[in-house]
Amino acid sequence: MDVRAEFLNFFEKKGHKLTPSAPLVPDDATLLFVNAGMVPFKSIFTGEIPRPNPPRATSCQTCIRAGGKHNDLDNVGYTARHHTFFEMLGNFSFGDYFKEEAIANAWEFVTEVLKLPKDKLWVTVHDSDDEAEKLWQKHVPLERIKRFGDSDNFWQMGDTGPCGPCSEIFIDQGSEHFNTEEDYLGGDGDRFLEIWNLVFMQYERSADGKLTPLPKPSIDTGMGLERVIAVCEGKQSNYDSSLFMPLIDKVAQLCGKPYSYESGASYRVIADHIRSTAFLLAQGTNFDREGRGYVLRRIMRRAVRHGYLLGIREPFMYKLLDVVNDLMGEAYPYLIEKKEAISEQIRLEEERFLSTIASGLELFEEELKNTKDVFSGSVAFKLYDTCGFPLDLTQDMLRDKGLSVNIEEFDALMKEQRERSKASWKGSGDKASSGDFKALLERLGHNEFIGYSDTIANCTVVALLDDNFKEVQTLSSTGWVMFNKTPFYATSGGQCGDSGVLKGYGRVVETNKFFELNLSQVELEKPLHVGDSVEAIVDISRKEIEKHHSATHLLHSALREVLGDHIAQAGSSVDSDRLRFDFSHPKAMGSEEVTQVEDFVNNIIAKGEDSQTKIMSVDEAKNSGAMALFGEKYGAEVRVVSFGDASVELCGGTHVKNVAQIGSFIITKESGVSAGVRRIEAICGTSALNYSKELRNTLQEVSEAVKHKDALIGVDRLKKEIKTLKSEIEALEANVGKEVQTESINGVDLIVDELGAGDIKKSIDDFKNQKDSVAILLFQVKGDKVLIAAGVKNASLKAGDWIKEIAPIVGGGGGGRPDFAQAGGRDASKIEEAKKAALAFAKKALEG
Ligand code: ALA
Repeated sequence: MDVRAEFLNFFEKKGHKLTPSAPLVPDDATLLFVNAGMVPFKSIFTGEIPRPNPPRATSCQTCIRAGGKHNDLDNVGYTARHHTFFEMLGNFSFGDYFKEEAIANAWEFVTEVLKLPKDKLWVTVHDSDDEAEKLWQKHVPLERIKRFGDSDNFWQMGDTGPCGPCSEIFIDQGSEHFNTEEDYLGGDGDRFLEIWNLVFMQYERSADGKLTPLPKPSIDTGMGLERVIAVCEGKQSNYDSSLFMPLIDKVAQLCGKPYSYESGASYRVIADHIRSTAFLLAQGTNFDREGRGYVLRRIMRRAVRHGYLLGIREPFMYKLLDVVNDLMGEAYPYLIEKKEAISEQIRLEEERFLSTIASGLELFEEELKNTKDVFSGSVAFKLYDTCGFPLDLTQDMLRDKGLSVNIEEFDALMKEQRERSKASWKGSGDKASSGDFKALLERLGHNEFIGYSDTIANCTVVALLDDNFKEVQTLSSTGWVMFNKTPFYATSGGQCGDSGVLKGYGRVVETNKFFELNLSQVELEKPLHVGDSVEAIVDISRKEIEKHHSATHLLHSALREVLGDHIAQAGSSVDSDRLRFDFSHPKAMGSEEVTQVEDFVNNIIAKGEDSQTKIMSVDEAKNSGAMALFGEKYGAEVRVVSFGDASVELCGGTHVKNVAQIGSFIITKESGVSAGVRRIEAICGTSALNYSKELRNTLQEVSEAVKHKDALIGVDRLKKEIKTLKSEIEALEANVGKEVQTESINGVDLIVDELGAGDIKKSIDDFKNQKDSVAILLFQVKGDKVLIAAGVKNASLKAGDWIKEIAPIVGGGGGGRPDFAQAGGRDASKIEEAKKAALAFAKKALEG
C-alpha cells in the first residue's frame, strides 16, 4: 500500500487542500529545520496571515530533527524509531473543524484504510480533557483510553509558537516481541507504539512562557510515515521496513559484512543519515562550519565514522544515492535532478573527513587510556578543532563505553575561540525585532508594490516609524515610511531595495520588507505626517538594477547549458553596479567555460527578446519549465518571468522590458564560496561600459609607460631587453674572478680569450693600459653575432693582419690599424677553433 498517497487522498476527499511539502529550511528564524508538519502553517494558526480557503489542508512534510529543540540525532541507530530525517503525514484545520471531526477522521483512516486491528488500538488524552475522552468513547472502550499530563500530552512546536493539549493513538504490538519492563502504555518500550498525534491547537506561547488563546481553536496532526509503514508491513523496527532495508543491504554490500539487527547500529545510522544528507544538499544547504550547514556536516561525519567502524576506508556514502533515489525519487524528483551535484559534494566531504579521521581516532584512543569517568573536554575540543570531529561524534564514540565528555571544559574552550574570531565583528543591532509589524499589517493591510509598472507615483503616508520602529504621527528627520501603495521595491529575492526621492520632503535611502510590509527608510528635510500625500520617485539606478537582475536569470540558464543541469542556485545578490550568483558545482570553472558562459549570455542579449511576466499557479509554472527555487516562499499563484525560450524563472523582482537593454555582460570573477559551491561575479549595462572605459584608460597608460602605441609590442621589447640584461649579468657573474690565460713570448704578453659581458673595445684598451707590451684578441657572442677585436702594443704583430686571418673562421671579415682592429662573424660554434688559430698566428709572428 502506498501509505503516503492513501493518506493525502483520504483527506483531500474530505475537503482538505493538498499542500506540497515546504522546504526543510523554514522561513522562520526561531527554528533550525522544519521539524513537524504544522511548521509551514504556523502563521495561519496564530492568525498572522489570513485563513486560506478552504480552511483545511493536508500534507506529507519532510522534517529534520537534528540540532535545535527536537533533536533526535543522538538516538538514531540505537532505537527502532528515531530518525534525523522523516516524513510527517498531517491534516490541519484552521479554525474549522475541531476535536470531534479530527478524532472521527483519524479513526476512520486507521481502521478502514490502514485496516489496523481495532482491538489493538489505544488512545491517550490530556489529563484535563474530558471532552476528548468522551469523543473517543464513540470508537474505543474506556479501558483503552488513558489520561496523561503535560509531558506526554501537551505538544508545542518550540519554546515559542502554537501549542495545545494532544491525543495520541497507539498500537499494541503484543508482548511476544516486546516484554521489557518499559513495555507498558506510556513507557519507553516499543510494545505500545504511538502512530498518530492529534494536537488540539489552542494557544500561542510567547518568549516569556505566557499562553495566549489562538484566534480560533485548530487542529494539527502528525503521523510518522516511517513507523506507519513499518507497522503495516508487520516489522518491529522502522529500519526493517521497505523504506530502509534496501539502504542497509547496500551498506552491507559496500563493507562486505552481513547485517544483523543486534549489531547493526552503524548500518542504521548510515541508512538514516544518507537520507537527511541527500535532502538537505538537494535543497541547497551546504556543508559549513556553522548553523544549518554544520548540522549537515555533523550528520555526515557521524555516518562516515560508522562506515569506518565497518571497515570502510574510502568515500562510500555517495554510492548510496542511487538507492535513496530509487526509494524517494518519484515523490521528490529534485533528488534525481540534483543527483550529480549532491554526489560530488558528498564525496568531497567524505574525502575531507577521511583525511583527518585516522589521526583523530588515534588521539581519541590515546586519551581514552587516560580516561576514568569523564573524557577530557580539551581533547574533545582538539578533536573538533584540528580533526573536524563534531562534539556529538565524540560523544557517540563514547556512548558504548558509558563515558561522557567534560562539557564545561569543552564549552569554555569553544567560547574562547568564538570570542577570538568575533573580536572584530560588530552586531547589526537588530532593532527591527522590536517593531510591531503584525499590528500594522492587521490594521492597515498589505501595501501593494506598484513599481513593476510605475516608478513615479502619488502615494499617501499611512504610517510612520522612528529609527527604533516605534510608530509616530510625524517624522522630521530619519525613520521609516509606509505608503498605501509604493513604487519602491523592497529588498527580496536577491534584488536590492530601491532608493529615491519624496518630492519636497527628502530622500528614500533603502526599502525593506517587514512581515510582508514594504517600508522605506527616509532622510527628511521637511517633516512628514501620517495622511500626507507625496510624489514618490524611484531613482534612475533602478534601471541598472533591472539589467543586472535580468542578466542573473540569463546567467543561470547559461550555466546550466554550459556546465549541466546539476547547477542549482545557492543564492544571488543584485545591485545597480554588479551581480553575484552562487551555485552548486563541484569544481572551479575553467577559463574556457567562463568564456562560454559569457558568450552564451551575450548571444541571448543580442537576440533582443522582450521579457514576459505572467501570474500563474505553481503547477502551470512547473509545466512551463520554470526553474523553481527551494527556500523561496511561493503563494498559490506565482510570478513567472521569461525571456523568450532562453530563461523561464519564478521571480518577484523587476526586470528589463527587452534583453537588449542589458547592453553587454562581463564576468569579472569566478571563485569558490564553500565546498561544492561556486560564485560568479559579473557586470552589465553602464557598469560594463565603465569597466571597459577604465580598461581602455589603463591600457593607454601602459602604452605610454612602455613607450609604444601597441602596448604588447612595447612590453615585448622590454621583455627582450630584460632577457639580454639578465644573460649579461649571468655572464658577468661567471667572469668574476676568472683568470685570463696569459703567455709571455719574447717579453710580450699574449692573450686570446672569450669575453662574457662588457664592452669588448674597452676591455682591449684596459689590457693595453695595464701592460707595457701586449698582443690581445678577444671574442664576444652578442645575440647571434660574434664580435672580434684585437689590440697590439710594443710587439711585432699587426692587429689588422691578425683579425683578417681569424675573422673568416667564425664566418666574418674585417681588419684595421696595427694597434687596433675589429670584425664581426656569425658562427659562434667555431670560436674554439678560431682561438687556437689566433694563438698559433700570433706566436709565429712574435717568435719570428
Ligand atoms: N505537530 C505534532 C507533532 O509533531 C502533530 O507531533
